[in-house]
Amino acid sequence: SEGINIQDIAKVFHRDATEIIKKLMMLGVMANQNQALSKDVIELIAMEYGVEPIEKVEVDKSDLELYFEEEIPEEAKKIRPPVVTIMGHVDHGKTTLLDQLRHTSVTADEAGGITQHIGAYQVEVDGNTVTFLDTPGHEAFTTMRARGADVTDIAIIVVAADDGVMPQTVEAINHAKAADVPIIIAVNKIDKPTANPDRVKQELTEYGIIPEDWGGENIFVEISAKMNLNLDELLEMILLVAEVQELKADPNRMAIGSVIEARLDKSQGATATLLVKEGTLKVGDPIVVGNTYGRVRTMTNDKNRRIKTAGPATPVEITGLNDAPQAGDLFVVFEDEKSARAAGEERAMRAQEAQRNSTKKVTLDNLFESL
Ligand code: GTP
Ligand code: MG
Repeated sequence: SEGINIQDIAKVFHRDATEIIKKLMMLGVMANQNQALSKDVIELIAMEYGVEPIEKVEVDKSDLELYFEEEIPEEAKKIRPPVVTIMGHVDHGKTTLLDQLRHTSVTADEAGGITQHIGAYQVEVDGNTVTFLDTPGHEAFTTMRARGADVTDIAIIVVAADDGVMPQTVEAINHAKAADVPIIIAVNKIDKPTANPDRVKQELTEYGIIPEDWGGENIFVEISAKMNLNLDELLEMILLVAEVQELKADPNRMAIGSVIEARLDKSQGATATLLVKEGTLKVGDPIVVGNTYGRVRTMTNDKNRRIKTAGPATPVEITGLNDAPQAGDLFVVFEDEKSARAAGEERAMRAQEAQRNSTKKVTLDNLFESL
């Protein structure tokens, strides 16, 4: 039919058509999905979603970044788990800490269950959930950021108490500061006789990291990842920092988020671990992930359980994509498979084109160089 209908509006605002119909009903406007809407009604909906009405709405659906720019109304947002990245110098205990925290997350009824590595996992603490990115090191952190995926809410920087501040400690601090995420210092290996936590504190003051008990703003927790000492205190501190941040997301919309990890599996085809940013991801959802697309065929959580839905800050491994995307890619759920395919193919084509152009350029440069 002629004009803009609810379906079109739903696409523009990345909402369910039924949600818009309900909203209109509450405003006293009756409309069905395919009926053309008057300009007044369109403006009304736009205002409801906090958008200045504009004359002509044109969306390049293959531009995934656009979906991440939408302002989400405050009243639609609910508290979500924090996403935590662990960074620090080589051998200071990042992997030990991640493993130890993961074990605390296995509850009694899951005790027999195999936790699988999907690139991220969740820990329950006093009825709250914390999401950990399971790829330690600032390289993963910066790769994600460089690709536009600012997924980390809190950085834990591990410093071995027997070794002190080292070059990669400083790098980690700089990355966390550049990303403007709060830092918690985990002074590790305090079980060692040579441990000197005060020296770590002293050394960190040089980089503007000052503990609260020295009048600064940074939270320090002295732990032993290996001996499982004070890890519950570390988790408490994470929850405290998260509470101050008031991390929120809208679970009631089509999902958007980022890729944590992806690979091509011989038996399953492409699998990708996604971290939901907004909305709820569901089995069966048509989806565009980076330059790939498909329909979510299966979803598996970090406890190796098949699940049907995944809300904000939940990591899930999905199957059903036509190819493996890349870590840091964005994903967007579409309303139908046809438009997901169109957008996905468009993106793949553009990526190929860009690749070809860069290859051409290099060849040309090489040519000039050799003259
Ligand atoms: P890279 O991945 O190489 O950067 O190291 P990492 O930071 O992941 O360190 P990892 O967890 O592999 O720990 C390095 C060594 O320190 C291992 O031998 C650990 O067993 C040991 N270690 C880690 N935490 C502790 C601790 O709290 N106390 C003691 N005594 N040893 C620890
Ligand atoms: Mg490691």
